[in-house]
Amino acid sequence: MAIYHRYDAVIVGAGGAGLRAALEAGQRCKTAVVSKLYPTRSHTGAAQGGMCAALANVEEDSWEWHAFDTVKGGDFLPDQDAVDVMCKEAIEAVLDLERMGLPFNRTPEGRIDQRRFGGHTRNHGEAPVKRACYAADRTGHMILQTLYQQCNKQGVEFYDEFFVLDLLMIDGACAGIVAIEIASGELHVFHAKSTLFATGGFGKMFKITSNAHTLTGDGPGVVYRKGLPLEDMEFFQFHPTGLYGLGILLSEAARGEGGILRNADGERFMERYAPTIKDLAPRDMVSRAEHQEIKEGRGAGPKKDYILLDLTHLDPEVIEAKLPDITEFARTYLNVEPFTEGVPIVPTAHYAMGGIPTNVSAEVLRNAQNDVIPGFYAAGECACVSVHGANRLGTNSLLDIVVFGKRGGIHMAEYANSTKHLEISEDAHKPTEEWIASLMEGESDVRIADVRSSLQEEMMDNASVVRTDESLNSVLASIEQLNKTYSQAKVRDKGKVFNTELIEHIELGFLLDMAEALVVSAKARTESRGGHYRDDYQSRDDTQWMKHSFITKTPDGGTELTYKPVTLGRYEPVERKY
Ligand code: FUM
Repeated sequence: MAIYHRYDAVIVGAGGAGLRAALEAGQRCKTAVVSKLYPTRSHTGAAQGGMCAALANVEEDSWEWHAFDTVKGGDFLPDQDAVDVMCKEAIEAVLDLERMGLPFNRTPEGRIDQRRFGGHTRNHGEAPVKRACYAADRTGHMILQTLYQQCNKQGVEFYDEFFVLDLLMIDGACAGIVAIEIASGELHVFHAKSTLFATGGFGKMFKITSNAHTLTGDGPGVVYRKGLPLEDMEFFQFHPTGLYGLGILLSEAARGEGGILRNADGERFMERYAPTIKDLAPRDMVSRAEHQEIKEGRGAGPKKDYILLDLTHLDPEVIEAKLPDITEFARTYLNVEPFTEGVPIVPTAHYAMGGIPTNVSAEVLRNAQNDVIPGFYAAGECACVSVHGANRLGTNSLLDIVVFGKRGGIHMAEYANSTKHLEISEDAHKPTEEWIASLMEGESDVRIADVRSSLQEEMMDNASVVRTDESLNSVLASIEQLNKTYSQAKVRDKGKVFNTELIEHIELGFLLDMAEALVVSAKARTESRGGHYRDDYQSRDDTQWMKHSFITKTPDGGTELTYKPVTLGRYEPVERKY
């Protein structure tokens, strides 16, 4: 049994991308947002340091410089036409939020203040530039609250704590989704003319991550199981400043405000790795440098396994005002006083550059030839436009969600207003109903939490900052074994109301799929580029690998890789020096 709903537009996910899309769609057609979480608990709320746009409020800047930095930061894998769209529209995107009432920090003259972030430079790499607009270190939180208020004002309907389980496809077009209502265990079918996924990332496949427990790749998981491709899955970003042992994010804004990374000898080691912009080099480079320092015995602490983020030379009043949350995190979680001692940090799994392939209107691609799936859209971290290429620059993700969320919302509404609902059967929910029943029937000793921990440890040890063919083979064998164990697991809680064991069970299945897609794509890419670093292929290989990978699950349970050339533009690939 299931409850059926009919909307013009259905958006899955209530983070920044989903809400930005809903705001546009909601002004044009009957729109619903279906979200696993209560909207303001979405992970956008954890984004700290800022959202970049070449406003030039504080220093000279231009959207072309921003585009250059994005392409270079992405190790020349971003599609340059998409990057141009994002960087040009960034300025209006920030002003849109300002008009909605977002409380940005201000300059003394009352303009939106801007600060430095990694990889953002003046005039094609000359020096760091102040480009990130921010609201203390709570920028994502403010975006989320602002957009949620606007969506409510607009009359968008919300289905909170509904978990997406299936995509309804009719003759190659999308007709909506099936979701489970977590509170009741009831299935719901959302029949829609256009559907947009904005379900976020999947960092929970790693042991040390800045991602919330809920980031399990649900949207890309549903897509992958439908035999549709995922793009550039091998590129996963490690943020250089996660709290030691925990992975909780300490914003890059700390370095933007003057913080310095030091090894056990007190050395500012980034001077050796990126002499021009030092601690503000792109994240892939800084994370690798930290890894190298630790590997070569220059890590700090009793086990020599962390780096120190030094804020002790900065004015406490400025830091308390501009970075109140992160200084408190250091005190609360590590009992460290950031004004008098270095904060222990390590690289933390932060952001998936890959995901559901889309064009700049957020339409989902069915293949590497750019054919679109009518009625299906994706935006935000679950999508791959591709504007981030092999490594995303800090603050480009809040930008991505609002630019492509808005574009997707407009396009999906226009599409919905120009077409009819596809016919779906009264049994559209049946496959999902049978699947859930199969998970609930019977008993098993397999503990889902053990399988998840093993996956997270394997991925951390063998597929994180540095990879080799050997390490990837090892993690692939483990994933195969873990999948076998997982398939024997049964949900012990047989109840329907708030069955969180069932939800975690399904989430783990998605994580296993995402891990497989990442590792298979990474094994095939025999070069190093951005967030994908192979110790056995240390150089970037532009002759072979200026292409995006598309991975698909085949009907026999295997995987298939195809490739699509990178769209070049003004910037030819050159050696990446900072
Ligand atoms: O460091 C940070 O504040 C994170 C920003 C981002 O991932 O864009």
